[in-house]
Amino acid sequence: MCPPGVTINRETLHAARNGTIAPDEVMSLMEYPFSSFFPTGAAFALLGPTHPGDLLREEAALLPDTVTPERLREFTLGRTCAHSVLAALGPQWARFPVLRQGERLPVWPAGVTGAIAHAGGWAVAVAGQTPPFLGLGVDLERRRPVSERLWRRILRPEEQQQAARLTGTDSRVMDFLLRFSVKESIFKALYPRGGVYLGFQSATVQVPEGAWEQDQGELRWKLHQECGPDFPAGMEGVGGFQRRGEWVLAGVWVLSRPV
Ligand SMILES: CC(C)(COP(=O)(O)OP(=O)(O)OC[C@H]1O[C@@H](n2cnc3c(N)ncnc32)[C@H](O)[C@@H]1OP(=O)(O)O)[C@@H](O)C(=O)NCCC(=O)NCCS
Repeated sequence: MCPPGVTINRETLHAARNGTIAPDEVMSLMEYPFSSFFPTGAAFALLGPTHPGDLLREEAALLPDTVTPERLREFTLGRTCAHSVLAALGPQWARFPVLRQGERLPVWPAGVTGAIAHAGGWAVAVAGQTPPFLGLGVDLERRRPVSERLWRRILRPEEQQQAARLTGTDSRVMDFLLRFSVKESIFKALYPRGGVYLGFQSATVQVPEGAWEQDQGELRWKLHQECGPDFPAGMEGVGGFQRRGEWVLAGVWVLSRPV
């Protein structure tokens, strides 16, 4: 791992691979604007652009020499958040390398489910044990212009109808951002266990009225396509969000059914 104050660049990537730099302390999260809205038992971490980050040797080995500084930075910060949530779940996982399967699917310790997101120099991670969590997803988005084409591609017809009733560009953009962010969270929560790719039309996000004017809230979503035996078509789920200025943090969770 990289010590505090070390800039993440190709040299530190090589040093991390060789295991020649010492462990980092995870920076206090208190100064950061978002907080966890996940249920008890789910660990959450958020780190910002000034955090030096830490990368375990096995994780550094996943990156090619040609990695761009931006990708190195986001990957490192995401893994740093992952280490933080794993340490919070149990000391045995404090230095667990979060490797990947396929292109980018993060691999958590057996019996743990979680998700990572990064945007604009920030990263978040959430993780919890299975049971009770069958899936946990998180996403962080920064406000950006939304084209009509993107709006139609991401939102289902019933979502478009709801959103079309909104007045004002701000409400519409934030409504889109929230639905998009929740859908990405749903994918990250369900895909690792279900193994079935879900497109943006595979779920409806039910945004409570006026949610885009609130700092935070809860929401519901419905799945329209089966994603493995635990996540049947028609299932409904819950989630939460926080809005801070031009940023939206969204997350969803699926708990195992009571036996
Ligand atoms: C995979 C996806 C969700 C990642 O989003 P992104 O905009 O690239 O970036 P984010 O910062 O939000 O998330 C990136 C992290 O997602 C995680 N991720 C990537 N693929 C994943 C997968 N198949 N399952 C779960 N998590 C995955 C990784 O941890 C990744 O970070 P890392 O590569 O540094 O480890 C997105 O690219 C995608 O494919 N979306 C289409 C599917 C979808 O959202 N459907 C909606 C269903 S309702």
